Amino acid sequence: MATAGKIAAVGVIGAGQMGSGIAQLAAAAGCAVLLLDSDPAALSRAVASISASLRRLVAKGQLYQAACEDSIKRIRCVSRVQELGDVDLVIEAIVEVEDVKKKLFVELDGITKPSAILASNTSSISITRLASATKRPSQVIGMHFFNPPPIMKLIEIIRGADTSEDVFSAVKSFSERIGKTVICSQDYPGFIVNRILMPMINEAFWALYTGVATKEDIDTGMKLGTNHPMGPLQLADFIGLDVCLSVLRVLHNGLGDNKYSPCPLLVQYVDAGRLGKKRGVGVYSYGQRSTTSIKPKSSL
Ligand SMILES: NC(=O)c1ccc[n+]([C@@H]2O[C@H](COP(=O)([O-])OP(=O)(O)OC[C@H]3O[C@@H](n4cnc5c(N)ncnc54)[C@H](O)[C@@H]3O)[C@@H](O)[C@H]2O)c1
Repeated sequence: MATAGKIAAVGVIGAGQMGSGIAQLAAAAGCAVLLLDSDPAALSRAVASISASLRRLVAKGQLYQAACEDSIKRIRCVSRVQELGDVDLVIEAIVEVEDVKKKLFVELDGITKPSAILASNTSSISITRLASATKRPSQVIGMHFFNPPPIMKLIEIIRGADTSEDVFSAVKSFSERIGKTVICSQDYPGFIVNRILMPMINEAFWALYTGVATKEDIDTGMKLGTNHPMGPLQLADFIGLDVCLSVLRVLHNGLGDNKYSPCPLLVQYVDAGRLGKKRGVGVYSYGQRSTTSIKPKSSL
């Protein structure tokens, strides 16, 4: 079994916004990192963004130039899962689709060494169900990073129904080694943070939808009234409205309580492709697309 001290080689699968940040953290902590993505362009973008991010740390005096160059050299991009046979820990950060993740876990189970730990960065999918697709459920665990991983201090660790104590300890120590504070959740929908955050975001959408207040006043209210760094509607735009909707659906289906039922305005924004900052438009406009096509009920 891999222990944190022995986690020397890490495979990161998915080189998008989360996977690239996770690869950066592991490389900066001294691990050899194999970064895999099915899309070669995503790998090129990831390498460029990791290099830029590490160089920014050098410019700010937070990292030595030599350490920056060494970290970059520790990351090797690969294109086949078979190349991950020798890693101690795999962190999966691919698309949030259960069947696609399960298929990958089956493949990983077949090619990684018996002691390897398989972790998922899923925001909402059951770790127990991913684990049950493998023959090593005691070595499957959730490592939920936050966006952007190099900046956000938290990792939520999720134990599946059969995750072993040794694997939990190894992953907790590894998370601390890469500079994170760990919280531990049982494997229930939304884990801890999204279970609490998403109903608040949904309620902000209901307030907007039913005309309680403008989006600006809802966000200013929560910023200044509860000392949040940004309002819930702006935060939803940063997370991605599609991601918020998908987590709410997991909460609604998994917990069976209508209080998690997504607000129709959120559903409509997603249907219209207003996915938030990444698309240039969500609740707010970020200057790349018109927002005039959809208005909340209050202003119709
Ligand atoms: N974005 C967030 O704020 C956030 C926060 C925490 C967790 N997550 C979770 O992290 C995961 C990744 O999210 P993201 O925002 O980085 O997504 P993303 O779309 O930026 O990146 C996903 C990458 O995975 C690649 N990919 C898809 N299927 C693949 C496969 N079968 N094999 C190899 N590569 C594959 C894609 O090409 C893409 O580059 C999701 O499970 C998501 O729920 C996201």
